[in-house]
Amino acid sequence: MSSDVASAAIESTTLRHALAQFPSGVTVVTAITEDGRPAGCTVSAFSSVSLDPPLVLLCIGRDRTMHDVLTSAERFAVNVLSANQAWLALRFARPGDRFDGLATNPGRGGIPLLDGATAYFECRTHQAVAAGDHTIVLGEVQQLATTGRDPLCYLRGGFRDLLPEERERCAPPAEEWLLPVQW
Ligand SMILES: Cc1cc2nc3c(=O)[nH]c(=O)nc-3n(C[C@H](O)[C@H](O)[C@H](O)COP(=O)(O)O)c2cc1C
Repeated sequence: MSSDVASAAIESTTLRHALAQFPSGVTVVTAITEDGRPAGCTVSAFSSVSLDPPLVLLCIGRDRTMHDVLTSAERFAVNVLSANQAWLALRFARPGDRFDGLATNPGRGGIPLLDGATAYFECRTHQAVAAGDHTIVLGEVQQLATTGRDPLCYLRGGFRDLLPEERERCAPPAEEWLLPVQW
C-alpha cells in the first residue's frame, strides 16, 4: 500500500486518538546549541533500540525549535521525568526561558541534566533518519544513571502517576516474574 493512500484514509485526529491509548513515559531531551546555550524539549516518543551497541531513539517534530539543535548536536541527554515533574513536561513544551531558575547538573559536554529525574541517558548522536514530519534521532548511550524515583506516565492526553494501588494492579501475577523474558 502506498503511503499516499494511508495518509489520505486516516485523519490525523483519529490517529492521535488511537496513539493516545498507548501509555508512555515522559522525557525532557536536552542539548547545547551551536552558540553554547542550553536547549530542551519535552518528548514522549522515546524508546529502547539495541543493547549491543546500546542505542535509544526519540522522534522530534521537524517544526520544533529543538529539531535543528538535536540533528546538528554531537551529543544530547534524555531526562526521564519523575511522577512529580509534570510541571517540567509542560514547561519544556511551552515558549519561554525553559531553564530559568531550574536546578541542573552539567553532564558530558556541559549538557544540563535536570535534578529529580528518575533516569538519565547521556548519548552521542548516532544517526538521524527523516520520517514524515518527524526525524528519528538515534543515540548511543555513553553514560546513564537511575535514581529509583517513580516515573511520570502519559496516557490519553493526560499525565498519570502510578499510585501504590495502581502499581499493584499493574504488577503481573507472581508466576509471571519467573518467565524468562527481559521485558
Ligand atoms: C507530554 C508531551 C509529549 C510530547 N512529545 C513529543 C515528542 O515525542 N516529539 C515531539 O517532537 N514533540 C513532543 N511534544 C511537543 C514538544 O514538546 C513541543 O511542541 C515543543 O517543546 C515546542 O517547542 P518549540 O515551540 O520551541 O518548538 C510533546 C509535548 C508534551 C506536553
